[in-house]
Amino acid sequence: VSRVEVAIRALKRGEPVMVFDGWGREEEVDLVFHASSVTWREVSLLRRVAGGLICYATRYDLLKKLGIPFLHEALAKVPSLAPLAERRLSYGDPPAFVLWVNHRSVKTGISDVDRAKTIAALHRLTQLLIEGDEKAVKFFQDEFVVPGHVALLGSRGLEQRRGHTELSVALAEMAGLSPSVVFAEMLSDHGESMGLDEAERFSRLTGIPLVTGDEIIEAWWEWRNAR
Ligand code: 5RP
Ligand code: CA
Ligand code: ZN
Repeated sequence: VSRVEVAIRALKRGEPVMVFDGWGREEEVDLVFHASSVTWREVSLLRRVAGGLICYATRYDLLKKLGIPFLHEALAKVPSLAPLAERRLSYGDPPAFVLWVNHRSVKTGISDVDRAKTIAALHRLTQLLIEGDEKAVKFFQDEFVVPGHVALLGSRGLEQRRGHTELSVALAEMAGLSPSVVFAEMLSDHGESMGLDEAERFSRLTGIPLVTGDEIIEAWWEWRNAR
């Protein structure tokens, strides 16, 4: 059984997986759940065990039906922000950030319970977007507040970009799950992101499966060509 298959099985059981993007990119490992498995306990685990920014990701072609651009595109329209929004980090990818949201029912938006509420509403939004646009637009406008405390990211697909956003959404789709994932970067205790070696050790210690971007991309091409 391949490492990708092991990761797929874990996601289906509601368990986390670790995803390393690739050399020459961020070289980071994200801890990933399928969004349907995320309660406040998983948010707590992402916060304490991973430690990076807790993000929700789905396909951007779905979010586009809501009429929302990528955040850097919207910010680039403000003249004083344009130079900042057009600048890229060293690895060069355009950002995956679409919006910062809270569910309207949250108190402050940042507690584990509050972030779980926002994530559950985003997961519902994705289901409605898959079913059809009208109900989704109403749900989006009725249920959310911006800016909020959960980053909503849009996957452009692995043909376009090879970030954790695209890799995690592809892994969910290969698992036969909806394109609806939650993740956070894993940080080490020495001021840096967790490297691949440390992540391999952490994976052996905890049993949380680890996969690389190269492994996901290879499996994804096979999966796509077989469809
Ligand atoms: C949001 C990020 C992370 O890197 C996250 O992994 C998603 O981004 P990407 O798709 O660029 O890897 O920037 O915390
Ligand atoms: Ca990043
Ligand atoms: Zn990343």
